[in-house]
Amino acid sequence: MDHHKECLFPTLVFLLLRIAASYDTITENQPLKDGEVLVSNGGYFALGFFSPRNSSANRYVGIWYNKVPELTVVWVANRDNPITDSSGVLSIDKDGNLVLVHKNQEVLWSTNASATTITNSSSAQLMDSGNLVLLQGGGKKVAWQSFDYPTNTMLPYMKLGLDRRTGLTRFLTSWKSGNDPGTGEYSFKMDPIGSPQFFLYRGSMRLWRTGPWNGIRWSGVPEMTPNFIFSISYVDNHDEVTIMYGLHNASIFSRMVVNESGTVQRLTWHEADRRWVAFWSVPKDQCDYFGHCGAFGDCDPYISAGEFECTCLPGFEPKLARDWYLRDGSNGCVRKRGGSACGNGVGFVKVPRVKVPDTSIATRVDESLGAKACEELCLSNCSCSGYSAANVSGAGSGCITWHGDMIDTRQYTNGGQDVFIRVDSVELESPSTVFLADSQDNGFALILEPITLSQTLVIDLQNPVHSQFDRDNPITDSSGVLSIDETENLVLNHKNQEGLWSTNASSTTITNSSSAQLVDSGNLLLFQGGGKKVVAWQSFDYPTNTMLPNMKLGLDWRTGLSRFLTSWRSGNDPGTGEYSY
Ligand SMILES: *[C@@H]1O[C@H](CO)[C@@H](O)[C@H](O)[C@H]1NC(C)=O
Ligand SMILES: *[C@@H]1O[C@H](CO)[C@@H](O)[C@H](O)[C@H]1NC(C)=O
Ligand SMILES: *[C@@H]1O[C@H](CO)[C@@H](O)[C@H](O)[C@H]1NC(C)=O
Ligand SMILES: *[C@@H]1O[C@H](CO)[C@@H](O)[C@H](O)[C@H]1NC(C)=O
Ligand SMILES: *[C@@H]1O[C@H](CO)[C@@H](O)[C@H](O)[C@H]1NC(C)=O
Ligand SMILES: *[C@@H]1O[C@H](CO)[C@@H](O)[C@H](O)[C@H]1NC(C)=O
Ligand SMILES: *[C@@H]1O[C@H](CO)[C@@H](O)[C@H](O)[C@H]1NC(C)=O
Ligand SMILES: *[C@@H]1O[C@H](CO)[C@@H](O)[C@H](O)[C@H]1NC(C)=O
Ligand SMILES: *[C@@H]1O[C@H](CO)[C@@H](O)[C@H](O)[C@H]1NC(C)=O
Repeated sequence: MDHHKECLFPTLVFLLLRIAASYDTITENQPLKDGEVLVSNGGYFALGFFSPRNSSANRYVGIWYNKVPELTVVWVANRDNPITDSSGVLSIDKDGNLVLVHKNQEVLWSTNASATTITNSSSAQLMDSGNLVLLQGGGKKVAWQSFDYPTNTMLPYMKLGLDRRTGLTRFLTSWKSGNDPGTGEYSFKMDPIGSPQFFLYRGSMRLWRTGPWNGIRWSGVPEMTPNFIFSISYVDNHDEVTIMYGLHNASIFSRMVVNESGTVQRLTWHEADRRWVAFWSVPKDQCDYFGHCGAFGDCDPYISAGEFECTCLPGFEPKLARDWYLRDGSNGCVRKRGGSACGNGVGFVKVPRVKVPDTSIATRVDESLGAKACEELCLSNCSCSGYSAANVSGAGSGCITWHGDMIDTRQYTNGGQDVFIRVDSVELESPSTVFLADSQDNGFALILEPITLSQTLVIDLQNPVHSQFDRDNPITDSSGVLSIDETENLVLNHKNQEGLWSTNASSTTITNSSSAQLVDSGNLLLFQGGGKKVVAWQSFDYPTNTMLPNMKLGLDWRTGLSRFLTSWRSGNDPGTGEYSY
């Protein structure tokens, strides 16, 4: 029953709102009250007050698709300032701004545009593109538009990027949650430094990068094909550096969203199934995460199972072979010892089909420069570590050179572009040298030395939180004692209570000579039977959440014992959790 109510209610309200709609413009004489809706001329978009699915108390002013039955909000005005009743009114104030006020006449949100001449003729119109435009000066001047202040959605014909004349940067920011359109932690924003690129950020941390525009598409989005449903327009001149998507067919609904799980998604509405289908999203694989293989690393997600996705660019080797062996490439690579890569015998090795390294630290030179000239330019400067074409369309033209670190290079099976890495003559003779092969030979000796197992396996009985044994029976003070009892079991007692935990092994002959020993593998062994040293119990037979090397998981046919892992309840509670393996 509840389920039905929840489904019907929004649809009903939605229908009522649609019927009530009749105009697309707010004027001084015609404000918009909660419950009323503005609909664009062609009926594509609607503007009004809404509540996110599960927060019926909060009211927001938003724009949504008018022809899509599922409420799909594409823009929100007062995202961080909800109204908690239905007294909200969107109107034009005496300065010609669009303002949202509620019963106490408190201004919750404003377009905040400075009007030069007050002519009493401001109006706000919802366009068929989904753009809300504030017109001043008798409809002549666009004083403000919602497309300049996007929330989490990029609509067709909306520009993202930098307006160099005004300094305005248009970017997307995720909602806080599905119930809260407030400013969330993920954003998708252009970095205009060097060769401009968009980044997906979590706070100020870079998660993913589009790569620079390469004349046809983003270097890091090989799926962007020119003849798909979009027309793509990238502009980089003294007025602006922006990206905009148009649609070849106006009856297709497509939007790009930074969602609250930190994913950039592109979705289209499928009328037949009546649902949004996400046909593209990033980050997809490990190699999409910014700097996964560090400086001068190269990430290949198509390696066979069991291999490490990080390698070093030609002429480089892992900075910390031990981390590399343990499959952490984040410290990246350094030039091989002896490789000078400047002076005599220097050349370039081509790394084909890649996303070019981060261009925020690269120099983009003359768009007309050819490949040969670009190579010579890089060669003539010792600080140049590599180059690539700036525009891959046709035979390729333009020149990007990197000075210093080359970060976030990754492989594609097709659609990437070629990058040329500066190497010394030794490397040129064997251009196919890949570091990974020798790193595995050397790796073992390097790693065994610094990590001795006993260091990592301190079992701290003073601190109950860290005890592996009493996972569901913590001791609340420091009175715990682990000892051998008269039945020759290892038992954990504390001051008021005996037998919090026991190895519970049945001993046949009591010889008063049991002992428990922690060995280097991390296994705690209980020996019984005097000199014979029979293993009566071992911690490896009762794992908690960790499988260590040389531990067996699975079934013992003879005893019926099944050894398996169970998660902790939380990082603070080693109690038996809900996940098991
Ligand atoms: C309006 O703009 C001024 C100055 O640009 C700023 O201080 C103020 O916070 C803005 N108000 C709103 C409601 O955005
Ligand atoms: C605008 O309207 C206000 C009140 O309706 C009036 O006092 C004012 O003179 C008008 N200004 C112009 C420039 O028409
Ligand atoms: C809304 O609440 C229902 C029931 O409590 C829950 O199943 C659903 O996931 C919630 N929706 C969102 C978007 O949080
Ligand atoms: C890229 O190269 C193509 C073909 O040479 C040219 O038509 C186009 O204008 C170039 N694009 C840019 C951004 O320079
Ligand atoms: C536009 O798309 C609709 C359905 O999405 C389709 O029926 C129509 O034929 C398309 N128009 C063109 C010109 O491709
Ligand atoms: C965000 O997008 C990803 C990829 O399409 C999807 O798996 C995930 O469920 C989305 N998260 C939300 C909250 O919609
Ligand atoms: C080499 O390139 C760097 C970065 O573009 C530049 O600062 C430096 O002046 C150049 N050096 C020479 C010798 O051209
Ligand atoms: C010890 O084993 C017996 C029988 O196998 C069982 O009933 C008892 O609960 C176990 N005690 C503990 C503390 O595991
Ligand atoms: C074991 O030790 C206890 C107490 O010290 C003693 O009473 C018992 O006789 C001993 N048993 C054997 C078999 O030595």
